[in-house]
Amino acid sequence: MRPKNEWDIQLYNEKHGFVYKYGEDLIKLLHPIEGELILDLGCGTGELTNEIYKSGAKVIGIDASESMISAAKEKYNDIDFYVKEAANFQFEEPFDAIFSNAVLHWVLESEKVVVCMHRNLKKNGKLVLEFGGKGNVKIILDTVDKILLENGYSQRAKIKNWYFPSISEYTTLLERNGFEVELAQLYERPTELSDEKNGIKEWLLMFGSTIFEGINFKEKERILNKVQEEVKDRCFIEGKWFADYMRLRILARKK
Ligand code: BEZ
Repeated sequence: MRPKNEWDIQLYNEKHGFVYKYGEDLIKLLHPIEGELILDLGCGTGELTNEIYKSGAKVIGIDASESMISAAKEKYNDIDFYVKEAANFQFEEPFDAIFSNAVLHWVLESEKVVVCMHRNLKKNGKLVLEFGGKGNVKIILDTVDKILLENGYSQRAKIKNWYFPSISEYTTLLERNGFEVELAQLYERPTELSDEKNGIKEWLLMFGSTIFEGINFKEKERILNKVQEEVKDRCFIEGKWFADYMRLRILARKK
């Protein structure tokens, strides 16, 4: 899952607020109804959990990051938040719906997550998910690997740091575990990065730091500068940096 404690919450919210801003659209698909019991799986600092709460539904937020959960509790003290892993959680009362935005690509134990979601839903309960799908940030990751190789390092970006399944891979996984899929969509969502000067570098430092483990600061800077320069023709559009996100959006029900 995402790093647990080292998140700079302020930086995350200031520069990477797009993570939850895009999720507002997904809430329309969730269509929360007053009185429903809903789980926000991987709630981060709770912004979308609070949007669901405003609908009158009873919502609980969970996240594996202690620092995210303490920030969420501080901001939204009417909502229950817990530190729990997506691949290992259990609540006494089953949910009417489970919602998850921009999180499941962090969890490599994808089948365990699906089993957990199934166990914690009511019969006919709804699953509304969006996360990175096949081809996600391919331009950025391919370029990182190319530059690493040119500089005498092994390729590290495309090894299994994240889980970016195709439609068929993920819907098969859901069907095998007792879900009926009503919607599965893989779509391009170029995502504007807020740092106008160093958008790609900042993105890699925030989300891809594990790729550069063991590389000293100066060398890392040199590699990051080269990556940013190399992707510029594809990722810098009309004065703004974009990450080449591919999103997998799912609506499914427990059979
Ligand atoms: C994403 O949101 O697509 C993402 C986040 C971190 C690393 C890779 C992808």
